[in-house]
Amino acid sequence: MQHPTKSTLKNTSKIILAVCIISLAACNHSAKKTVANSIMTDTTKPLLPSKTGFEKTIDGKKTHLYLLKNKNGAEAAITNYGGHLLALLVPDKNGKLTDVVLGFDDIDGYKKAMSSYYGATIGRYGNRIAKGHFILDGRRYDLFINNKPNTLHGGSKGFNDVVWDASQANDQSITMTYLSKDGEEGYPGNLNVKVTYELTDDNSIKISYEATTDKNTIINLTNHSYFNLNGVGSGTILDHTLQLRAANYTPIDSTSIPTGEIAPVAGTPFDFTQPATIGSRINNTDTQLKNGSGYDHNFVLDKHDISTPIATATGDESGIVLEVFTDEPGIQFYSGNFMSGTNTFLNGKTDDQRTGFCLETQHFPDSPNHPKFPSTELKPGETYKTVTIYKFSVKK
Ligand code: BGC
Repeated sequence: MQHPTKSTLKNTSKIILAVCIISLAACNHSAKKTVANSIMTDTTKPLLPSKTGFEKTIDGKKTHLYLLKNKNGAEAAITNYGGHLLALLVPDKNGKLTDVVLGFDDIDGYKKAMSSYYGATIGRYGNRIAKGHFILDGRRYDLFINNKPNTLHGGSKGFNDVVWDASQANDQSITMTYLSKDGEEGYPGNLNVKVTYELTDDNSIKISYEATTDKNTIINLTNHSYFNLNGVGSGTILDHTLQLRAANYTPIDSTSIPTGEIAPVAGTPFDFTQPATIGSRINNTDTQLKNGSGYDHNFVLDKHDISTPIATATGDESGIVLEVFTDEPGIQFYSGNFMSGTNTFLNGKTDDQRTGFCLETQHFPDSPNHPKFPSTELKPGETYKTVTIYKFSVKK
């Protein structure tokens, strides 16, 4: 056997070295691939907001982010700052988890976009009160005019901008309470409010509201989540299909205050009694659409007994179906007309116009100034109780 010379040895070690480098590189490459794959796998689940973005002290009270998870893998993120629903992950037609509720990564995002009320708990009075005042028991109450010339969603510091006390009973529910003091934002009576979010195993987010007062007052609570059933930041909602069990709606004036009329939707762009895409008539020449800059109207629900869905929306790409159940008499369908593109969601997408829509269950706007509308008064000894369910499934 020929002994290896110095040069063949040198060459052999060069070859070994080269093999090592190649195999190391290969190893490294496959490691990278594994990492890339696992990142890929992770990206199929949308981001949830980070806990740290919601850990703050505001008005001397601690804020946190709370996570709910049901037995089927749906997840929700909620904060006790303004009772916001931050994100809601439900499966699409391919089983891929999709975040259907528009939201931000931290409290600053919510503060910056405050006038849009993304995901917020709204109170003491949802929607508008004309010219910021109402008469109750013969006395006039003046509110802050934050949406000229009216008061919108509670006033200058609504329930969306206060810190609630929260307690998480289990993985699937969280209860928040807030005492709105007598005279806060101009409303009479100490109002004790309780809101419970529950993520049930049928992929519903159930919101239960309760309140009591020590003086006659008015109340109209709602949730202001913006939905995009194709996923946050996935573009327009104009191709979503919508059906509303509402043969009537309450037309508005140019400042978005109900005229007092209960008008039939038949023959108008407000007829969603049969499923129609949100965008099919939104640009019609129509005074009501002009007054709302699109859809921003209260629909008078035919039935409101919680057992039948009163609204059904479907994402055209995801196949995700949202059904809304409520015992409230009305629903504000808002097509995201004032979304401005100036806020950035947690996945980096901007809040461009009409990339989200709201279905706010409610008593009618400005009811305290419309004696013919269902009453929003709450008296001592009574308990305000209302439930809304947003149920998610996929199109069959
Ligand atoms: C109102 C809109 C308003 C939006 C965001 C909706 O409930 O009806 O007019 O622009 O909230 O503030």
